[in-house]
Amino acid sequence: MSANIQEAADAAIEPVSFVKVPALEPPTSLQQMIHDWQLIKHREGGYFKETDRSPLTMGLEKPQDGDSTDSVTVTRNQSTLIYYLLTPDSPIGKFHKNINRITHILQRGKGQYVLVYPDGQVKSFRVGFDYKKGEVSQWVVPGGVFKASFLVPNEEFDNGLLISEVVVPGFDFEDHTFMKGEDELKSLVGPERAAELAFLV
Ligand code: GUN
Repeated sequence: MSANIQEAADAAIEPVSFVKVPALEPPTSLQQMIHDWQLIKHREGGYFKETDRSPLTMGLEKPQDGDSTDSVTVTRNQSTLIYYLLTPDSPIGKFHKNINRITHILQRGKGQYVLVYPDGQVKSFRVGFDYKKGEVSQWVVPGGVFKASFLVPNEEFDNGLLISEVVVPGFDFEDHTFMKGEDELKSLVGPERAAELAFLV
């Protein structure tokens, strides 16, 4: 029982059939929600909608590329908020990282997260409201940590997972990086774990 992912129960990574082979369409109830809320397909998988972007701005200090120890200060909105939905037809959020920490809040359903830290440590935990089974309903992913997610079957939300994500400073593609294929995963976690996690790249 934990509110902190470092202490959250470790979950075995066992994707069910519709995660390995996605369904052709979302169930009707989730299709209705996608339509009503005008969610759109996300490049990392799943559906999303940005529901708030702070009109206020702030400076974000970013390290320069390459070996330089210099940094540059860029301007960002102070925060952003999204809904993010996984469905049986789009059941995986593929590995990516952001330089900023991201706060996640569960709304409905169940899923599983897999984090890969820069030192190669892997952390996987279930998200849901059954905290007695080790599920968590709020989780914060630190900046610089690769994150992937996949659906866990559930009756209460027609096999969906709906969360909210808050990023401070606000989301900008310049701060976001997709994992560069299985080779990058292998270089972080070694060949055996990479084979187990390859479905998330
Ligand atoms: N645009 C594309 N992806 C994202 C995201 O993850 N968050 C926000 N706020 N906007 C996006």
